[in-house]
Amino acid sequence: MSEGRTIQRVGVVGAGTMGNGIAHVCSMAGLDVLMVDVEAGALEGAIGTIERNLQRQVKKEKISAADAEGAVARIRTATDPAELSDAQFVVEAVPERTELKHDIFARLGEVSGPETILATNTSSISITEIASGVESPERVIGMHFMNPVPVMKLVEVIRGLETSDATTGVTVALCERLGKTPVEVNDFPGFVSNRILMPMINEAVFCLMEGVAEPEAIDTVMKLGMNHPMGPLQLADLIGLDTCLSICEVLQRDLGDDKYRPCPLLKKYVAAGWLGRKSGRGFYSYGEG
Ligand code: CAA
Repeated sequence: MSEGRTIQRVGVVGAGTMGNGIAHVCSMAGLDVLMVDVEAGALEGAIGTIERNLQRQVKKEKISAADAEGAVARIRTATDPAELSDAQFVVEAVPERTELKHDIFARLGEVSGPETILATNTSSISITEIASGVESPERVIGMHFMNPVPVMKLVEVIRGLETSDATTGVTVALCERLGKTPVEVNDFPGFVSNRILMPMINEAVFCLMEGVAEPEAIDTVMKLGMNHPMGPLQLADLIGLDTCLSICEVLQRDLGDDKYRPCPLLKKYVAAGWLGRKSGRGFYSYGEG
């Protein structure tokens, strides 16, 4: 495994928001993508989303119609992870459940070649822990994309305890090929992005629960006062309230500090199925489409 190794065949596991965004940027960079999900319907939905997002970019004259068509043609789909056997680089982007990630990495360890890099897009679960179930943990790394993936420049590249320099080098080079800016960090709960972002979002929910201000007021303060592109409650709706809750829980548990305790209102909304944009309701309501 060398830093100069050119990656051409990429696997993406999980066809949700992050998975389809990652497939989108990989195919736009000219890579051949195999997107795998156990649900055939999710794969179909993901291809539709990628097509719509590519058309947005065509309309804005960021890319040509031919580029968009070429990108879609480079994406294949499958429901069986065994099909990933010839992928050189796999990015996992399934929901944030530790056992699920463990199972997937154990399976990826079996089906992939010894040179294949296994990356996880986890937003908070320990890379070291995910890697512990794979025979060669030096080829496991965190590759944390930001939502919406086609727009956001950052990829947080997280080295687990045993991640090798070669794995890190290939991952950094791949990020650059995707037009992203990789930033290397070490494996600590929430890494850098969510260690800082989630306490802000959680505090905004406390402000709402305690009646400090209405959602629009909280978001406007942060947008106009701090020049954030969107307010923390709008951002929570974009990320998904279930994801925000699970990251707060990881921070509280793994850092052993109750300053990260999730706000009861956040828990209540998640319990009600108010998950943000994806469920049509979170701190705000979203109409059809
Ligand atoms: N695919 C392709 N293009 C997209 C897109 C998508 N999914 N979503 C938006 N765009 C494009 C739009 O076409 C538009 O393009 P132009 O600049 O060429 O006009 C541009 O992005 C801006 O979009 P809009 O005009 O629709 O809306 P906006 O100006 O309000 O920007 C936003 C939307 C980019 C989401 C902006 O509000 C923003 O940057 N928000 C903050 C996002 C953020 O913080 N993300 C990180 C979340 S944390 C995370 O992901 C990690 C985690 O672990 C939780």
